[in-house]
Amino acid sequence: MARVTVVPVMLILSFFLHKILPSTSLASGQPDVVDAPGLYNVLWITKQESRVILSWNNNLTKEETEKYTVKYILSYKFFNTTYEREERLQEKKKIIHLELHSGFNAKVKTQLFAKETRKVIKESGWTEFTYKAPPVYIQNLSCIIYNISFLNCTWHIKAEVPEDIQIFFLYRHVGKDFECQQYIKNARKKNIGCHMKGIYFQPSRKINLNITVRDLRNNSRGLSYYKAFTPQKIEKLNPPINVSVSLENRSIKIQWKPPPTIGSASKKCFFYQVKITDRKIVNVTAEEYEYPFHKPASKCAAQVRVKKETCIRNKIWSEWSEPVFIHEEKTVDVMLLSIMLFSLLIFLGGLLICACRRFRCLEAITMPVPHPSDNIKTWLAADETHDQKQVSMQMEMHSEVTLGIPEENRDKNVQQQKCLKESGLEDL
Ligand SMILES: *[C@@H]1O[C@H](CO)[C@@H](O)[C@H](O)[C@H]1NC(C)=O
Ligand SMILES: *[C@@H]1O[C@H](CO)[C@@H](O)[C@H](O)[C@H]1NC(C)=O
Ligand SMILES: *[C@@H]1O[C@H](CO)[C@@H](O)[C@H](O)[C@H]1NC(C)=O
Ligand SMILES: *[C@@H]1O[C@H](CO)[C@@H](O)[C@H](O)[C@H]1NC(C)=O
Ligand SMILES: *[C@@H]1O[C@H](CO)[C@@H](O)[C@H](O)[C@H]1NC(C)=O
Ligand SMILES: *[C@@H]1O[C@H](CO)[C@@H](O)[C@H](O)[C@H]1NC(C)=O
Ligand SMILES: *[C@@H]1O[C@H](CO)[C@@H](O)[C@H](O)[C@H]1NC(C)=O
Ligand SMILES: *[C@@H]1O[C@H](CO)[C@@H](O)[C@H](O)[C@H]1NC(C)=O
Ligand SMILES: *[C@@H]1O[C@H](CO)[C@@H](O)[C@H](O)[C@H]1NC(C)=O
Ligand SMILES: *[C@@H]1O[C@H](CO)[C@@H](O)[C@H](O)[C@H]1NC(C)=O
Repeated sequence: MARVTVVPVMLILSFFLHKILPSTSLASGQPDVVDAPGLYNVLWITKQESRVILSWNNNLTKEETEKYTVKYILSYKFFNTTYEREERLQEKKKIIHLELHSGFNAKVKTQLFAKETRKVIKESGWTEFTYKAPPVYIQNLSCIIYNISFLNCTWHIKAEVPEDIQIFFLYRHVGKDFECQQYIKNARKKNIGCHMKGIYFQPSRKINLNITVRDLRNNSRGLSYYKAFTPQKIEKLNPPINVSVSLENRSIKIQWKPPPTIGSASKKCFFYQVKITDRKIVNVTAEEYEYPFHKPASKCAAQVRVKKETCIRNKIWSEWSEPVFIHEEKTVDVMLLSIMLFSLLIFLGGLLICACRRFRCLEAITMPVPHPSDNIKTWLAADETHDQKQVSMQMEMHSEVTLGIPEENRDKNVQQQKCLKESGLEDL
């Protein structure tokens, strides 16, 4: 990469030297750069399994070769792409990884440099070359490593693919070949992806994919396509772990820990985003985020996601962590307490009505009314068939009633009248 970026700079520099220096070079009697139509290159390619080697020669004389430093400028562009790569090379060949490209256009020219001044003396014109690869039937190949030991690769099959083909996937990693464990298929039963699990990845060693499209009608070798990935660069991390939220000093504090990773687990590698309900997503490099508030929202969820950025460039974000709800302990306690009180009140009210009714019935059977405590005993005995929960509830009621007894005892008849009225049984 460094070379690619350096070359244009050098080209620009040499361009300026050409444009600015002629007067000086003429004045000092030095020869200017000469376009040498006699010089030319012949290009050809050699195909290897996973790559194409583009080679060229020159027709320099022996003296020229000895007198000058010879360099070549190579420029090439894959079909259907816009990025043109340009390199200045001393060797007469270039290994090109075709991957899923269907070919490339290349051009080469020779430059002769004065050995002392390192200035261009002569250069040839461009010689162009087009390489058209065998048909490429797949596109949009992408792979992802997740949950430490899982690998998924997917690809699309181009429309022009022959009917009776199948696609086979294997890869080489740290000197070992791995065949696909589980193919992902489309409706036409063609393999369009591969799922692997339980794999150990060496984070910095390449995964070399070999995807072969084979014609099922005959035993031809098929067409193989190759692409390499660095595991660390295609790792999708699990969401951050142990996400917790606390309220501190009128601010919400969210804390978490990085997930496990196949590569470096150094703190500085991780880059986080925090999402709090209805708020803008914020970028965070620490393992916590504090967010001051004035009036806390009643229901506010926090989520965190992670990727690697500084140690290794990786575009893949993890999923968001499960939402953690921000709860103000006081608010919750007050809420809970009032709900509990409210239900208790309703419950007690209900029981009171019920008890009054029952009271009245028992009275009707066992006139005259015995001592209140006996009365309650009878009531409890009659209730034995009721389920336990109710009994315990009534026990609670019992204590309430007992508390009320002295008063009730004092003015029994009034109380009875009241109950009769309340239960609407007056006319019975
Ligand atoms: C290279 O070949 C061309 C064409 O055959 C010829 O005109 C030119 O003189 C040759 N250059 C050298 C340096 O031999
Ligand atoms: C890709 O480039 C080749 C060669 O330049 C051309 O024949 C083909 O039509 C292009 N395909 C697309 C999809 O643009
Ligand atoms: C697949 O790749 C082609 C070019 O290679 C591109 O035009 C197309 O948008 C891609 N499709 C998807 C779904 O990514
Ligand atoms: C992630 O990996 C662990 C351990 O290998 C496994 O128990 C778990 O089921 C995996 N989770 C998913 C979502 O695949
Ligand atoms: C990987 O592929 C498997 C099998 O199709 C699928 O269940 C899983 O969701 C995929 N995982 C990712 C992260 O793409
Ligand atoms: C790629 O896979 C095909 C089919 O399995 C095989 O014939 C070919 O030799 C492999 N290529 C390399 C470089 O291993
Ligand atoms: C196999 O089939 C393909 C496409 O049908 C054809 O191009 C190829 O020549 C065949 N190979 C053999 C060995 O018959
Ligand atoms: C995450 O929480 C679990 C249980 O609370 C604890 O055992 C574990 O050590 C924590 N992990 C980290 C990295 O703090
Ligand atoms: C609370 O916040 C104030 C002002 O922001 C700060 O001075 C104080 O140290 C904080 N207290 C705690 C316990 O964080
Ligand atoms: C957060 O980071 C992302 C990815 O690096 C970047 O695209 C975005 O602009 C950043 N947002 C802010 C508010 O800095």
